[in-house]
Amino acid sequence: MQASLETFRIRKQYPGTLALDDISLRFDPGKVTALLGKNGAGKSTLVKILAGTVQPTDGQITINGQPVKFNSATDAFRHGIATVYQELSVIPELTVAENILLGRVPHKPGLVAVMLDWPAARRRAREILSEMGVDLDVRQKASRFGVAQQQIIEIAKAMSFNPSVLMLDEPTSALARHETEMLFRVVRRLAKSGVAIIYITHRLHELSQIADTVTVLRDGHHVGTANFTDTTPDSIVRMIFGSVVRRQRPQTFQPSPEPLLEVRNLSRNKKFHNINFTVYRGEILGIAGMLGSGRTELLRAIFGADPFDAGQTILNSRALTRTSIRGMKRLGAALIPENRKEQSIIPELSIRANLSLASMETIGWNGLITERRENKVAREFVQRLDIKLASLRLPINSLSGGNQQKVVLGKWLNTHPRVMLFDEPTRGIDLQAKQQIFQIMWNLGKEGIGSLFVSSELEELHEVCHRILIMRSGEIVGQVRPEDISVEDLVIRCMGESAAGSAA
Ligand SMILES: Nc1ncnc2c1ncn2[C@@H]1O[C@H](COP(=O)(O)OP(=O)(O)OP(=O)(O)O)[C@@H](O)[C@H]1O
Ligand SMILES: [Mg+2]
Repeated sequence: MQASLETFRIRKQYPGTLALDDISLRFDPGKVTALLGKNGAGKSTLVKILAGTVQPTDGQITINGQPVKFNSATDAFRHGIATVYQELSVIPELTVAENILLGRVPHKPGLVAVMLDWPAARRRAREILSEMGVDLDVRQKASRFGVAQQQIIEIAKAMSFNPSVLMLDEPTSALARHETEMLFRVVRRLAKSGVAIIYITHRLHELSQIADTVTVLRDGHHVGTANFTDTTPDSIVRMIFGSVVRRQRPQTFQPSPEPLLEVRNLSRNKKFHNINFTVYRGEILGIAGMLGSGRTELLRAIFGADPFDAGQTILNSRALTRTSIRGMKRLGAALIPENRKEQSIIPELSIRANLSLASMETIGWNGLITERRENKVAREFVQRLDIKLASLRLPINSLSGGNQQKVVLGKWLNTHPRVMLFDEPTRGIDLQAKQQIFQIMWNLGKEGIGSLFVSSELEELHEVCHRILIMRSGEIVGQVRPEDISVEDLVIRCMGESAAGSAA
């Protein structure tokens, strides 16, 4: 069934925040609408309202001209609206097939309902994945897969409903380039078959491959809607931000020759092998590589979150053959992990508490954390990182995705590190906030702090780093300086000769 989805004068008031005001939009069958806006603009709120999980304060939704009211996600599903959220909801203990068909496993005809037809379920799951052009073993537990594959499972789950409207809230923020291509193929195919698609992204360079229409929100207001072909990159940025200052890595600022973190012959079975490099004082060292190349595992091992089998790290002149998070923190390391929801925040706690989580030692005075100190430090970071919030006392999950990521960053900056390990720190962060984070990295560099920076967005490494290591299948296969290589060549180096050959 094809459906036109419309909103009339939707308003959403949260305590202290008017998240959406007077939003009237129309989403048509066969069209991909890119829903754009900076962090906290109201995109996810709109998606949640259309998905039935949040109730609008005011306003009306219609499908094919008929007023509808969604009291729950089930109501929205029943009307053919499926959603893939910004945060993953894959259940790790369940298999891929179970996750995809969660709650809707086919029953064997003629048998009692409890007799589930698992072979049929697995067949169906495999079918959905192969329609998406993906090959995943549907019998494996979801926990076996990384963020990217889990995102794919998430999308397959939504697809299994045969939706007439599909909403994707930052589906590519965790994906590498070739996986993104795959997703775009799927989305285009769906649009062609008449599905109305609402697509949220901060990666503006994706739009040319996917968007028919762009709709921009800013601070809860509808700024405008345009055919993508009538826009320019500049006009889109202006709609989103008003204007953005693009910062450049200060040319004069060069790392000093003093080693800060040395990694010597570091190996971990099947994850990475014989890794050697040095981060110098003030240096931003990038690690480029395709998904699954072992970047995250390496970072985690250096930080003591995972063990390594052989080799050593030298931090602050101390040679370590075994590491623990505690020990590494004490020596001045900080890790901004890739999966913020699982690893970095305590959703029920306030923004203020989350900001001071990693730094109890520094804020506390004789082990005592005074609320005043906590407030002062928190306010400083809110200002420094430009975090959009109504009150420090609200739970952190009341913040928009990008602003949550800034809190994670602030929390670690608070520990006054010597070396920062960044694993995809800008995921879900808008262009302006990204520029602010780069600026923070450069400023840290000027203070002598070294950064190890992993990102799937090679443009980003190219822009920010002094030097970039290239990692492939668990090994460092080369290093480059951004001024000596184009982004395109960097992509090819990361994919390896064979992949580059076949892609050409
Ligand atoms: N449960 C809540 N309680 C209070 N305020 C909320 C709640 N959920 C969202 N907000 C606020 O509503 C505003 C819009 O948030 P929303 O998540 O829709 O932004 P977004 O456009 O999706 O941003 P991002 O790009 O960072 O994901 C933000 O200011 C946010 O802090
Ligand atoms: Mg959002």
